[in-house]
Amino acid sequence: MSSQAPIKRLMAPDITAKKGREPIVSLTSYHAHTAAIADRYCDFLLVGDSLGMVMHGYETTVPVPLELMIMHGRAVVRGAKRSLIVVDMPFGTYEESPSIAFRNAARVMKETDCGAVKLEGGKRMAETIHFLVERGIPVMAHIGLTPQSINVVGGFKAQGREMDQWARIEEDARLVAEAGAFAVVLEAMAEPLAAKITSAIPIPTIGIGASAACDGQILVMEDMLGLSPRVAKFVKEFGKVGAVIEGAIRSYSEEVRGRSFPAIEHTYAMRPSAASGSPQPRTDEPSVAARASKKPKTGAN
Ligand code: KIV
Repeated sequence: MSSQAPIKRLMAPDITAKKGREPIVSLTSYHAHTAAIADRYCDFLLVGDSLGMVMHGYETTVPVPLELMIMHGRAVVRGAKRSLIVVDMPFGTYEESPSIAFRNAARVMKETDCGAVKLEGGKRMAETIHFLVERGIPVMAHIGLTPQSINVVGGFKAQGREMDQWARIEEDARLVAEAGAFAVVLEAMAEPLAAKITSAIPIPTIGIGASAACDGQILVMEDMLGLSPRVAKFVKEFGKVGAVIEGAIRSYSEEVRGRSFPAIEHTYAMRPSAASGSPQPRTDEPSVAARASKKPKTGAN
């Protein structure tokens, strides 16, 4: 029997309970290896539909299929052990009716083992949020700039910079909270409005371009790492990973062209023959190249 205490994964109510106590830290994550790193520092990881743009080269998030979200969701759940994993519902999978939303969200929960889903929309999605939460699916809401509506809105525009937009956005926030959302993302929102909403509703606000007034923050991981070619005004690049990757690939290409890689330490020699002590070709084993190509790198010593 193991004597180690199992690692407890955070759940949606744990995130809600942080409001007013401590800032909530989160990032997007799309793969197991980045999830494993981010897991050490974040309260929740979002498998955002931004993966369609960041990883798959779509112009917007609109074309992202449910299957893609499920595939990346599974990878992130496997990589992270402690953070709550939230998976985005992509465009077209939840807007039509609460029951269609339930069917698709239940599929996401069952097939990825994530702890919650996120969907975009305020007042118009309140009934659906209530329907899902009542039936066991924790929902994170997303208001302000909602990228899945880009074709109606006409661009990625900051919200609440004119007072006449405030009442509608405040109502969105109030209604998703009343519907049972455990937290709400405020995207690209003027600071005074984000501050007002944060103090008005009982659930945490998670800001992305919505100022330090929010209860927590989220960024797209590739943006904050310095991997994205273009980023919004609200992104701070905490690293220059794109430059590091380019430098490594440049060195690799130079060394392959200059024949200095692979060096002796990356190369398999023949085993010395037991009788003579000198290297003899072995006839009972596949060639070095054949063995190396069959085995994973970590296993071939
Ligand atoms: O898809 C995403 O990455 C998101 C964040 C911007 C919150 O929804």
